[in-house]
Amino acid sequence: MAATSTATFSIGTTASLGPKMSSLPQSKPSALRFNSQSSLRSFSGLKAATSVNCESESSFLGKESSAALRGSFALKAQKADQRFQYHLQPQASYKVAILGAAGGIGQPLALLIKMSPLVSALHLYDVANVKGVAADLSHCNTPSQVLDFTGNSELANSLKGVNLVVIPAGVPRKPGMTRDDLFNINAGIVKNLIKAVADNCPDAFIHIISNPVNSTVPIAAEILKQKGVYDPKKLFGVTTLDVVRANTFVAQKKNLKLIDVDVPVVGGHAGITILPLLSKTKPAVSFTDEEIQQLTVRIQNAGTEVVEAKAGAGSATLSMAYAAARFVESSLRALDGDGDVYECTYIQSDVTDLPFFASRVKIGRKGVEAIISSDLQGLTEYEQKALEALKPELKASIEKGIAFAHKQTVAA
Ligand SMILES: NC(=O)c1ccc[n+]([C@@H]2O[C@H](COP(=O)([O-])OP(=O)(O)OC[C@H]3O[C@@H](n4cnc5c(N)ncnc54)[C@H](O)[C@@H]3O)[C@@H](O)[C@H]2O)c1
Repeated sequence: MAATSTATFSIGTTASLGPKMSSLPQSKPSALRFNSQSSLRSFSGLKAATSVNCESESSFLGKESSAALRGSFALKAQKADQRFQYHLQPQASYKVAILGAAGGIGQPLALLIKMSPLVSALHLYDVANVKGVAADLSHCNTPSQVLDFTGNSELANSLKGVNLVVIPAGVPRKPGMTRDDLFNINAGIVKNLIKAVADNCPDAFIHIISNPVNSTVPIAAEILKQKGVYDPKKLFGVTTLDVVRANTFVAQKKNLKLIDVDVPVVGGHAGITILPLLSKTKPAVSFTDEEIQQLTVRIQNAGTEVVEAKAGAGSATLSMAYAAARFVESSLRALDGDGDVYECTYIQSDVTDLPFFASRVKIGRKGVEAIISSDLQGLTEYEQKALEALKPELKASIEKGIAFAHKQTVAA
């Protein structure tokens, strides 16, 4: 049974995200959802635990994932698997661009997105070394066409007609560096890339991976505003890795089946601004005070664990690519009409007094449909204190981003 199969959410929205809704209908039991046509049609194995049927084989390269890919070739393989062909008719119709595609995250992310039955074209952009990555990837016999774009002169073309842009461009953290140390380099890179996104695919979903996400998302918002094309429902800071890590660490600690575990992670995406809401873990599980402290600190510092283990060779790339691919897949399913897509992400928000905040949201065809504000109700004393403690740091990072974006006026 899926971890959140019987959860009821109450919904909050930002003023700019549309009207308030009071509640969502109760989620259906996962077995029912698995049998529903829409779930199957869009299933590819990179799903949030909220929608996964745990009775089935659902690992990324598991039975359903292969079946999803087979489903995209249904006409050619009509006799191969009648059950999946009937339900799985993925529309390989979405164009995805990765900016920074030749990097440590970009390459495995491109591979994972190449496996999506929902993608018709994958545009790989980088300042260097992207031709070989694209040539290599293009030999995989999955539906999407792979195109490469190198350097500023090809940036605009890499973005034309694209439905979703993922941005992992920038420099990774090295030992001894904090995410804020990256600020000046990555802020400038994101700023320029977002200008091009605004000019060439203003309606696309934008996923920002480049750190510090707490600041790069507000930078992107300001640039899009200056260009007159800001839609807060479509600008996402990718915090999925925090959720992936929280789920993994909690499952290990409590000896739970990994696929069942779902921990909402709210706040921001650096150090103490990452707040795993362990009291909201599904399935319900009890923790000692010591476990809460140890798990919270581990989830907050998991990035540093990887930076130190890599000893100068960069930060998390493979787990990050996995997490980003899951978020891309969720977004594409939402674009494709799946009405059951929930992910944690850092967005413009009014659930706290901060203008940006990571929460669990419902994603639909037009982006964020609702913020699951009930996750912030009934917090434990530990979580409430942690929430108050993170606010000044997150506020400062947001203000730093906004100030950076305003340093120069965007050319019309
Ligand atoms: N959101 C998260 O959870 C998370 C997790 C890990 C890393 N990150 C961040 O992701 C970013 C990338 O990490 P990585 O390990 O892939 O780094 P990397 O150095 O391996 O790759 C970065 C890529 O970006 C490219 N690039 C640089 N400037 C560019 C520009 N102007 N336009 C397009 N591409 C450009 C580089 O050529 C390189 O290929 C870093 O900022 C890192 O801190 C975020």
